[in-house]
Amino acid sequence: MKVLVIGASGRLGAAAAEALADRHEVLEASRSGELRVDLTEAGSMENLLQQVGKLDAIVACTGAVPFKPLADLSEEDFKAGFMDKVLGQVNLVRLATPYLNDGGSFTLTTGVLAREPINTGVVASLANGALESFVMAAAAELPRGLRINAVSPSVLEEATNYHDYFPGFTKVPAEAVGQAYLKSVEGIQTGKVFSLG
Ligand SMILES: NC(=O)c1ccc[n+]([C@@H]2O[C@H](COP(=O)([O-])OP(=O)(O)OC[C@H]3O[C@@H](n4cnc5c(N)ncnc54)[C@H](OP(=O)(O)O)[C@@H]3O)[C@@H](O)[C@H]2O)c1
Repeated sequence: MKVLVIGASGRLGAAAAEALADRHEVLEASRSGELRVDLTEAGSMENLLQQVGKLDAIVACTGAVPFKPLADLSEEDFKAGFMDKVLGQVNLVRLATPYLNDGGSFTLTTGVLAREPINTGVVASLANGALESFVMAAAAELPRGLRINAVSPSVLEEATNYHDYFPGFTKVPAEAVGQAYLKSVEGIQTGKVFSLG
């Protein structure tokens, strides 16, 4: 399969690209890679899609949100997190649907904060929950046998700089998260959230 991984230079994106690389043609994109895209810019997405042409699967491993105490969060903070993590991936699905071959798939990235809170994680929880509901609903309406899932990991074992913010949470190896992306791309599931940890 020809698979586009967006955010492939990041922790989760690298895990996804590595898991897929043995059996698939993997195109790696991000704001600074050889294939450039900014998921917060519709025009940038259109440019990339025209550049790469028809695809069998698209994996998105992006999403930046502010981490602040609830009392300090402004409307702008919520908008920033929503625009980046939620609308970035939603717009990708909207714009890239015509570029997927019949039976192709989208795999989005959410995270454990959709189901368990941490201190300062309100915007992340909101974004992850919104995306997971989007996946459930979009799966039912996508045309031509297209599928859509989300990978929703706990904090990575390798992301040691985050561990203090996730006390007592199960830490997940990047390799296991990579396998979840592979399962989403090669499997038959749709509308599913692959939760790890
Ligand atoms: N790390 C964890 O433990 C963990 C656990 C659960 C969920 N998550 C979620 O997984 C996602 C990725 O996390 P990560 O830790 O892998 O992040 P990361 O290491 O910072 O990587 C982010 C990747 O996305 C690219 N990127 C960022 N903004 C982009 C944009 N607007 N358009 C296109 N590419 C963009 C980055 O490259 P450029 O800067 O070159 O664009 C990079 O390749 C986030 O949504 C995060 O909440 C992470």
